[in-house]
Amino acid sequence: MRVLIIGLLEGHATTAAQIALTKGAKVAQSSTIDEALESLRSGKGADIVLIDLSLDIADLVKRLKQERISVPVVACGIAENPKDAGNAIRAGAKEYISMPPDPELIAAVFSAVAKQESSLVHQDPKMFELIKLVDKIAPSEANVLVTGESGTGKEVMASYIHHKSKRSDRPFISLNCAAIPESLLESELFGHEKGAFTGAVARRIGKFEEANGGTLLLDEISEMHPRLQAKLLRAVQERVIDRVGGSTPIKVNIRIIATSNRDLLEAVKNNEFREDLYFRLNVVNIHLPALRDRPLDIIPLSAYFIKKYADLNRLPMRELTKDALKKLTSYNWRGNVRELENTIHRAMLLSQENTIEVEDLFGLPDVVEEESSTQPLVEALLIGRTVSEVEKELIIGTLSHCLGNRTHAANILGISIRTLRNKLREYSDAGINIPSHALKG
Ligand SMILES: Nc1ncnc2c1ncn2[C@@H]1O[C@H](COP(=O)(O)OP(=O)(O)O)[C@@H](O)[C@H]1O
Ligand SMILES: [Mg+2]
Repeated sequence: MRVLIIGLLEGHATTAAQIALTKGAKVAQSSTIDEALESLRSGKGADIVLIDLSLDIADLVKRLKQERISVPVVACGIAENPKDAGNAIRAGAKEYISMPPDPELIAAVFSAVAKQESSLVHQDPKMFELIKLVDKIAPSEANVLVTGESGTGKEVMASYIHHKSKRSDRPFISLNCAAIPESLLESELFGHEKGAFTGAVARRIGKFEEANGGTLLLDEISEMHPRLQAKLLRAVQERVIDRVGGSTPIKVNIRIIATSNRDLLEAVKNNEFREDLYFRLNVVNIHLPALRDRPLDIIPLSAYFIKKYADLNRLPMRELTKDALKKLTSYNWRGNVRELENTIHRAMLLSQENTIEVEDLFGLPDVVEEESSTQPLVEALLIGRTVSEVEKELIIGTLSHCLGNRTHAANILGISIRTLRNKLREYSDAGINIPSHALKG
């Protein structure tokens, strides 16, 4: 993980840096926001930013957004200042760490805020076969296409391949092609020169240059617009890129791993995906089976997630009852490993004992309704409404589901308790009725 520290962190920057180093992170430091932005634009990159509470966090967050640099910001300050912490979160920080830094807390925040490179847990013979093949092709320079249903672990696999490759000490950079609007994806991939378009306030290095010498993960490649596919083809074929608004081609040395949960060959037939690009990317195809087709992975994965969420939430380890084990292995897992992970996470929070029962796993109707597709539900309940309306209902609904326990609710929602508290205050200020137990504590 790459950590960028901005400012003195109230005098604790060196200690924080040392802790980060012992957690295996690479650390860079900047004294001002301008300097930090300069470093981020230049392609050095960061997976998490720690910033001194006394600096202008709102300004940093605003400028990161303007330049579409996506990195979680964590504010660091002195503990006796709860109001400042709230302000930092309101300004857009994801978390607040009080100084002097506590090594355990720093580790927990790192793993919660930044997506950690996870290990590839497996036990099923199908996966052993697949990994035998992966271990063979990983050290080669061949581009790889990783396919499989959503949640099967395509990103985990891509990271595994990179770490087993000769490029493992070079950067592993990923870009989700579906998450970024088409008009911005080009500059995200190839970078841009200052003034290339409105809003291009400075030169910005793209993912290709950032990943130079290493591996570039193009996640959900099927969603890339054909016009950009042509540019990507040139980059892959000729190993040169053009920054948007730039005049000199730039040499790059990149291995590409692409993922898709759609059948790309089908997309080729439908003229949605270029055939020549398909063959360039699909030198090797690694197909991840659905979780239901590798049942022997289910128990080891469950054990792995129990440990993960016990550590993360500082909870005791819990054991699955016999019935719970039976239910887990016979369940259909349409959302694959991601669904299993979420199910275990929730069960860890709901369980009152040191065991996880069937009800902790499947007690909620949204999980039990295995047969019904969620699609019509989404359309009936969500489309035509604003994000903030839906967010409000989700927050209040989750909170009442958790009987007003904010820690649990925030965990299930995937937001910090501070963010939750601020949202609730906002709602109650707007005169919305919030279950009274939810405002305490
Ligand atoms: N074999 C595995 N071992 C451990 N965790 C896994 C494994 N496969 C998937 N996961 C976890 O499941 C979630 C979904 O995985 P991801 O790679 O994002 O799936 P996909 O990209 O196929 O949708 C992630 O949180 C990931 O860490
Ligand atoms: Mg994915």
